[in-house]
Amino acid sequence: MQDLRWPTYASREITLEAATPDGEGGAMHLVDTEGKVYLDAVTGVGCAPLGHAHPLWVEAIHHQLQRLTTAANTFFTGPQQRLAARLAALFPIDDARTFFCNSGAEATEAAIKLVLKATGRDTIIAFDRAFHGRTLGAVALTANAHYREPYLRCTGEAGPERFAEFRVLRLPFGDLDAVRAAFAAHPERIAAVFIEPVQGEGGIYPATRDFLVGLRELTRERGALLGLDEVQAGCGRTGDWSSWTTLVGDAPELRPDLIWLAKALGGGMPIGACIATAEIAKSMGSGTHGTTFGGNPLACAAALATLRIMEEEGLLARARQQTPLLHRIAAEEPIARVKEIRGVGAMIGVQIGEPAEQAAAPLARRLMVEHRTLVTICGGHTVRLLLPYRAGEPELRAIWSALRAVLSVPAA
Ligand SMILES: Cc1ncc(COP(=O)(O)O)c(C=O)c1O
Repeated sequence: MQDLRWPTYASREITLEAATPDGEGGAMHLVDTEGKVYLDAVTGVGCAPLGHAHPLWVEAIHHQLQRLTTAANTFFTGPQQRLAARLAALFPIDDARTFFCNSGAEATEAAIKLVLKATGRDTIIAFDRAFHGRTLGAVALTANAHYREPYLRCTGEAGPERFAEFRVLRLPFGDLDAVRAAFAAHPERIAAVFIEPVQGEGGIYPATRDFLVGLRELTRERGALLGLDEVQAGCGRTGDWSSWTTLVGDAPELRPDLIWLAKALGGGMPIGACIATAEIAKSMGSGTHGTTFGGNPLACAAALATLRIMEEEGLLARARQQTPLLHRIAAEEPIARVKEIRGVGAMIGVQIGEPAEQAAAPLARRLMVEHRTLVTICGGHTVRLLLPYRAGEPELRAIWSALRAVLSVPAA
């Protein structure tokens, strides 16, 4: 089939058509235009935590479609109010206030504006391997040079003498001394530290508890903010609503200042959210930021249904089991070419080559074409599994066997 899109995505041989119901909850398999069925460990890059077309999720959207789908953000809407209240109850942010948008990158943009405005400072610390999105502000925080360098002129990383709306200071992930030194060198400039508690696109690297707690303490000491990009790791994927809770715990004195979400939040409908303390959110007065579609009633109803179904079906507990399950399967049937399995809950990376090798792409293609298992790669060297939360031993065993087959048999 001719690709009529911009050539921005590596083209795939597969044209997906629909989900195939599994008889329980959301579908874990997809069918292509030729009728071939695939196990889906991509889920729209983490956007279908319930699986696809969960009947209760579809019903909630259908219900909302018949009531109200759009309203200007100058009005309150019931679904948006209810969702803001839900997020305030579920996420570890004090006296939470939420800005709704449509995607992860937009949530990052909201976070950038908020911390710059709330502190009056101009610098954000981001880390090696970080991924925060592709809009200009978000891509400035993203580490991958391939994504970022064509736009340096516009993003200001080169320094304040360039077109700098804000500066990004990039530091090694996990290196608290480097963060301490940066604060000492720029005492009045650092507005915030932004971190993915579990790095996703960079290769599935969870931060240690000590590093996260250290960042919390340092930012507080220095009058800066701590922002968590939970676009990929949030909303139950690590086994808790917030990956911060999984990695750090729920001590109230350690809570971050802001958390932003997208992907899993809508269960497959586009929505993003930046949740911040009332204390800092108050700096975003009327007219300082906005969006037409963000937080529309349809997307909010989808998100409310997603959170409710996760709760009713105990899906967080199931997500939590996935990484330990894969470790168990791997210990029973080791594959020599697998270097490492890293993960938290339903966010798993199987590292194949060394970081510089870019070994995972041909492998991922074979998993998809020869074994009908859809996967993405991250960090170049790692096969990433973002399964629906209810996936368990049968799906993980099927993936492991497919991996074994492609790693032991060279490509034809
Ligand atoms: C941690 C993180 N932040 C931001 C984004 C950007 O989200 P979106 O693609 O919805 O703009 C992503 C997307 O993969 C992500 O993983």
